[in-house]
Amino acid sequence: MKIFLDTADLDEIRRAADAGLVDGITTNPSLISKVAGDRDPKEIYLKICEIVDGPISLEVVATDRETMVVEGRKLAAIHENAVVKVPLTEDGLKACRDLRSEGFSTNVTLCFSVSQALLAAKAGATYVSPFVGRIDDISGEGMDLIHQIRQVYDTYGYETQILAASIRHPVHVVESMMLGADCCTMPPKVLWQLSKHPLTDRGLEGFLADWNKLGAEI
Ligand code: G3P
Repeated sequence: MKIFLDTADLDEIRRAADAGLVDGITTNPSLISKVAGDRDPKEIYLKICEIVDGPISLEVVATDRETMVVEGRKLAAIHENAVVKVPLTEDGLKACRDLRSEGFSTNVTLCFSVSQALLAAKAGATYVSPFVGRIDDISGEGMDLIHQIRQVYDTYGYETQILAASIRHPVHVVESMMLGADCCTMPPKVLWQLSKHPLTDRGLEGFLADWNKLGAEI
């Protein structure tokens, strides 16, 4: 499963990229507004593309098909790895089809049902982003959606990649993997939580205490 980072924070992106752990980045208007300040979002998008050599999702903010396509072309022009993110609306699906026919990669976002995921695949989306955490937030079972989309896509041979999004904790990542999501995008905090285990810390402490008794060097 590909690991994507769900952030526009350049320091966090550098930190994870430095470890070679990141296959791509997803952003959205809320994430970019958290970090941009006075900077032009396009500059930040370009920097992200320069740090990570993989798909970088950049989202349109128009709501009508024509303007989404115009914005999508501009976002795609930022870097060859840009993936144009469009919302799962009627206009978004049409814009997805238009952008795909022009050869651009697309990520259809804000997916909350298997019927929506079917339409994203029919629109030729490169990725579909089911929002697991936001379904859990309203007492639903976000992971059921990943399972259902996987079943439908496998049954009918749709090539759209399932990009599990709105990830809140490591169990979401593990379950996405177990259910066959192609990619999982997570906040930096969750990425680093994946590496933690108390037995690792305790084991390391024991190894080092024993080694130190030797008074030797490597
Ligand atoms: O990037 C889209 C998605 O991952 C947003 O997550 O935490 O705002 O529901 P969240």
